[in-house]
Amino acid sequence: MTTPPTLAEARRRAGQELAPVSASPALDAECLLACATGLARTRFRAHPEEVLKAPAWARFQHLVERRLSGEPVAHLTGHRGFMDFELRVGPAVLIPRPETEHLVEAALERSAASVLDLGCGSGCVAIALARAWPEADIDAVDVSETALSVARANARELGADQIRFHAGDWYAPVSRQRYSLIVSNPPYIGADEAEPDTGDLRFEPRQALIAGPTGLEAIRIVIQGAPAQLHPGGQLWLEHGYRQGPSVREELAAAGFTAIETRHDLAGHERISGGRLEAS
Ligand SMILES: C[S@@+](CC[C@H](N)C(=O)[O-])C[C@H]1O[C@@H](n2cnc3c(N)ncnc32)[C@H](O)[C@@H]1O
Repeated sequence: MTTPPTLAEARRRAGQELAPVSASPALDAECLLACATGLARTRFRAHPEEVLKAPAWARFQHLVERRLSGEPVAHLTGHRGFMDFELRVGPAVLIPRPETEHLVEAALERSAASVLDLGCGSGCVAIALARAWPEADIDAVDVSETALSVARANARELGADQIRFHAGDWYAPVSRQRYSLIVSNPPYIGADEAEPDTGDLRFEPRQALIAGPTGLEAIRIVIQGAPAQLHPGGQLWLEHGYRQGPSVREELAAAGFTAIETRHDLAGHERISGGRLEAS
């Protein structure tokens, strides 16, 4: 093992090493250094001259090697920030994405007494809504038992105790319930699209990513099932692929939704659409 360097040197070298495999090598290096040393990232700026202890240096080198082989930073550190909180993540769940924060923002534009989150994964969306609306009744469904274990642990740690988690296929476990708001970030990649073979996607559950041949299969199930599960005047908001906006708006209209809107992500892509179920 080489002699441990200073914090500044360790961070600089790792940033250079990671440049060919990461779009954010300096940030990756900093997150991995924080994980290996147990130090806050602010310490690297306050005390750049501090020399790493040998065990932390060994841990850091190992983490950088794993990152070089493609493993996502969130899997290496075991957590990911979402909205204003940190979630535990691992190979059982999709790593929460910044785009999904726009789904939460759209949902929070009005209040809702009862909420259903379909395909809850790590629990990020349901937990964000539970934190904003502590009085709301919230159900969260996922087909993956291992994802639900992660979501339950996150909800417990973050004090989102009012969420009821259910295992099953989309609406099946809650088929007798009606809600004022349904939110979903369903899988929306088509089986023939190349994306899952690149970057972090290679390490994430295919069940969380791939919807079927066209990518619209899960979105259609969520939209077509929503009218039977919403109170009149209730809202449905969902995340979708950047080219799926027109199809999603068409499906929403066909299912009886009005006031249909689409929101863009930070890259300017259509990403979140929703509407209101006409009060009959
Ligand atoms: C794109 S991930 C979203 C996870 C989380 N809501 C988020 O935004 O990070 C889609 C989720 O849908 C779940 N899922 C896939 N098929 C499902 C089904 N038939 N019924 C319920 N959930 C399903 C997956 O297990 C996965 O957790």
